[in-house]
Amino acid sequence: GAPVEVNISKLEPGQLIRVEWRGKPVWVVRRTQEILDALPAIDDQLRDPESVEPQQPVYAQNTGRSIKAEYFIAVGLCTHLGCSPTYLPDSFGEQVEGVASGFFCPCHGSKFDMAGRVFQGVPAPLNLVIPPHQYIDDGTVIIG
Ligand code: FES
Repeated sequence: GAPVEVNISKLEPGQLIRVEWRGKPVWVVRRTQEILDALPAIDDQLRDPESVEPQQPVYAQNTGRSIKAEYFIAVGLCTHLGCSPTYLPDSFGEQVEGVASGFFCPCHGSKFDMAGRVFQGVPAPLNLVIPPHQYIDDGTVIIG
């Protein structure tokens, strides 16, 4: 599959856009400072908070699992059986108390935070996959 160029210059804070790469959905989410600040606080509820498992390129093996903290880019497929989780920007607190936003898989209830890190006690065994990507300028990222 060919790399996919994504224009992120119009992405609003909190917004998710979905593109397709190699037949898979890829999400690009613009994270707010509030979202970023909240990430370390939930490490103890996560299965692999440090992203030890190789679910991301080495350059995304950090707290936000990203090159630029502001942009979260992930393959939008649950690591359990491959359903596409739902982005809950405002109502994720119904799934995990005290956590404002995240991703919920409707198939068997797996939960992921705003860095695609899987919560404990759900069927999905691994964090969401971060695809290879690079920025060619401030408003453009290449997936693949
Ligand atoms: Fe997502 Fe089973 S496919 S929880």
